[in-house]
Amino acid sequence: MRLPESQVAVLNAASATDERTIAQLAEATDQKPETVTGAVFDLRDEGLVSVTETTAESVELTDEGVQYAEEDLPEVRLYRAALDVGDGDAVPMGQVIGASSLGGPQVDIALSNFARKGYGTIDSGELAPDADADPDADEEAAALAALAAGESVDADVLDQLESRQLVVRHERTIRAVTLTDEGVTALMEGVEAAETVDRLTPELLTSGEWEDVEFTEYNVEADAPEARGGKKHILRQTADRVKDVLTGMGFAEMEGPHADADFWINDCLFMPQDHPARTHWDRFALDVPPMEDIPEDLIDRVRDAHLNGVGEDGDGYHSPWSEDFARAIALRGHTTSLSMRYLSGHEVGELEPPQRYFSVEKVYRNDTLDPTHLLEFYQIEGWVMAEDLSVRDLMGTFEEFYSHFGITDIQFKPHYNPYTEPSFELFGRHPETGELIEIGNSGMFREEVLRPLGVECDVMAWGLALERLLMLMYGFDDIRDVHGTLCDLDLLRETEVLK
Ligand code: PHE
Repeated sequence: MRLPESQVAVLNAASATDERTIAQLAEATDQKPETVTGAVFDLRDEGLVSVTETTAESVELTDEGVQYAEEDLPEVRLYRAALDVGDGDAVPMGQVIGASSLGGPQVDIALSNFARKGYGTIDSGELAPDADADPDADEEAAALAALAAGESVDADVLDQLESRQLVVRHERTIRAVTLTDEGVTALMEGVEAAETVDRLTPELLTSGEWEDVEFTEYNVEADAPEARGGKKHILRQTADRVKDVLTGMGFAEMEGPHADADFWINDCLFMPQDHPARTHWDRFALDVPPMEDIPEDLIDRVRDAHLNGVGEDGDGYHSPWSEDFARAIALRGHTTSLSMRYLSGHEVGELEPPQRYFSVEKVYRNDTLDPTHLLEFYQIEGWVMAEDLSVRDLMGTFEEFYSHFGITDIQFKPHYNPYTEPSFELFGRHPETGELIEIGNSGMFREEVLRPLGVECDVMAWGLALERLLMLMYGFDDIRDVHGTLCDLDLLRETEVLK
């Protein structure tokens, strides 16, 4: 039988009666343990050896553990210092600590373990050593010494040392090899080392040598180093997927400025100028010249809606309306500003129903940072314009949209927006925590919004949070897992957005 050299060496070094570990075989054959392991697996596949696997734990002292094994545990040093200073009586803490020459974090370590192990009591700044305590019988000290000497120790003490981070445990798989009957037979019949080559070269071909050599087998199951290239962020991947889904549902994409006039962000939406969301607390105002390019007649109609209302029973806010305020620039707090631009005819001309538009873009809010809020996030904006729309159309659209992402249990809750009536908040169930989380806001635009824009039919609209959709899809519960420097890199590396 002809086998690759490394296998022949292992076969010769293995025994039919005694188990040999990989380490022993590596030493006996003067080969690297990885090479021996590879050879052993191949030999096992050929039935020439059998392999048993056991896991063994090894314990290693940390740097701190080594230090205490050499120079006493901090609590022992504290105890001895207390005895020295006070002759068995209670002594002021500062004095004992000074005498023990413990410093930095070791002081706290010493104090907490001193009390835990009954070396004495600490009361009103005084430390009273217990005369009966015996530092020479300290189990943890003895265990550290034993480990340093390569001996094993009791599991409970080991747990304790591990919780103090004085040791770390490692698990290893130990493989032991014995020759099988076939292995013994093969050896008796004679096993030769075959020269193996791992690639075909022009020389092998021209010399004709290729006919005699043994080719190394490919092991397609071998572990290979993981190559990590650049990759699209899952937020982007999901945004692209959302765009595909909405395009598939017949929507066209809107584009527009991140920094926009308050007119488009709020006034068109019938948001009173003294609405709390329009104060400097909530918006990111920009110190730049006001926006000039806003149609005058539209400004007039919007102003009129705010002051006098729309329609026969309409009533406005009767509060002052400032054109300067409307033209001032801020970062958009929602992408509904884009919907206003498109619905007004300002972007792509007058639109005849039916129409469907969307955007998946960033918005900016001066929120307090927490697991579900950031200063910027992505909104999935959208609207449908048609002659007769009902709330059922709105709900059906969401059901269809979210079903593309495997989410089928959307819930609706009545809500209030100054610009829609009726309005609904959307909720979805978090796959890990089971909690209902808010995922969006929606409604039918009011007359006060549509008439000034010149729209005469119904428009249903929404703003959904892209990050919340991701939470439902992937189960993370902190938005900072996908945004910013605290991102969960494994999540970003391993998650693939399915198409
Ligand atoms: N602008 C709303 C928000 O940011 C979303 C929305 C858009 C609601 C359109 C109704 C209609 O929460």
